[in-house]
Amino acid sequence: MQIIAFHNVKGGVGKTSAAVNIAYLASQEGIQTLVWDLDPQGAATWFLSEANPQSARKIGPLIKGKSPIGDYIRSTPYPKLELIPAHRSARSFDIKLNQSGSGNELKQWLKSLSEETAVVILDCPPSLSELAEQVIGTANAIYVPIIPSKLSLQSWDQIKGFAKEQKVKPKRLRPFFSMVDRRKTLHRNLTENPTKTLPTALNTVIPNASAIERMGEAREPLELMDRRSKAARAYRDLWQEIRSSLKL
Ligand SMILES: Nc1ncnc2c1ncn2[C@@H]1O[C@H](COP(=O)(O)OP(=O)(O)OP(=O)(O)O)[C@@H](O)[C@H]1O
Ligand SMILES: [Mg+2]
Repeated sequence: MQIIAFHNVKGGVGKTSAAVNIAYLASQEGIQTLVWDLDPQGAATWFLSEANPQSARKIGPLIKGKSPIGDYIRSTPYPKLELIPAHRSARSFDIKLNQSGSGNELKQWLKSLSEETAVVILDCPPSLSELAEQVIGTANAIYVPIIPSKLSLQSWDQIKGFAKEQKVKPKRLRPFFSMVDRRKTLHRNLTENPTKTLPTALNTVIPNASAIERMGEAREPLELMDRRSKAARAYRDLWQEIRSSLKL
């Protein structure tokens, strides 16, 4: 089983959009995929829920060891794609993880998943908290969407520093440019050659695209909503890059 995360300390940079689209593309290749919506805002849950979703569960029993992780898994409208939906109780995930103090629980829960699950995709809230620490300590790869701006590049330095403190190998952190507007000189300059700006960056650049914004209304992955769009092509490229580094 491979675990990947979409994370950034900055909000609104395209983490959830990437997580949902990559998860769908993985499942379309017949890879049994599970998205865990770790963000109590529940955006990934919104995108991937069935018309009449089975309700999300409180995280308390999971943390106390009273419910196995399997009890939290729900189906989605798509074959081979499952979801652990966000529950509002996940707002206190950090405090509860801190209080329980029993090592990396996230890692332990994921270890107990059935062998059928080939890829787990963690959609993370924007923070550098106990939960982020466990995510960074668990995932095989952490993908970090970066808007090409000074502030976003600073947030990248922050994440790198945080990961270094956790003794995470720098190679496991992979930034990629997101919401890129080629009409802007700064965006063009910083993303023309991604690895020149950020040595470990992926080559794929996700454009700023209204098609991605419209996913919120359509509640569908871009591949279903508008597969011919430039943005859908970019997510396919991103998936190919991610896939090539997974041990599947
Ligand atoms: N490449 C893009 N082009 C245009 N709009 C985008 C793009 N990526 C995301 N958006 C829009 O920006 C908003 C934030 O995107 P998204 O939820 O994916 O970001 P996030 O990093 O997960 O945010 P949060 O930190 O709140 O979880 C959404 O309205 C989404 O539709
Ligand atoms: Mg999000």
